[in-house]
Amino acid sequence: AIIYVLNGPNLNALGKREPGIYGGQTLADIEAMCIEEGKALGLEVVCHQSNHEGALIDWMHEAGDKAVGLAINAGAYTHTSIALHDAIKAIKIPVVELHLSNVHAREEFRHKSMLAPAAKGVICGFGAHSYILALNALNTLTKQTK
Ligand code: DQA
Repeated sequence: AIIYVLNGPNLNALGKREPGIYGGQTLADIEAMCIEEGKALGLEVVCHQSNHEGALIDWMHEAGDKAVGLAINAGAYTHTSIALHDAIKAIKIPVVELHLSNVHAREEFRHKSMLAPAAKGVICGFGAHSYILALNALNTLTKQTK
């Protein structure tokens, strides 16, 4: 079974970008960790990152056809994108929203998520470990429903 892990805008800069908030690991480090965790769970993890909203939507549709679950860190699009909300609604697989930082402990504008009402659940605040938690949540969910 395949799980998609999608990362949105500015997450390609992880490692250099505000490391006090987002940690020192690069996106390549995090993606490698996700693939390893997938192997341990018996899942194939497919990772993509884009700074463009439409590219994320295309991969969400693709995940709907090819994958059993989707984990997404949509970066700042989390707080703005009705299109990403609609894309979650348009696919039948469970979607977990995740964040490295605890968005609720930060600026007010990060407290609102456009994705959360459409997502199965939300994980935030555990740094790179948020990805591991999201993969395990999807693993549990997909094993429950199959
Ligand atoms: C983020 C939190 C968002 O508010 C922010 O815009 C990001 C990263 C996180 O992983 O903590 O780009 O999604």
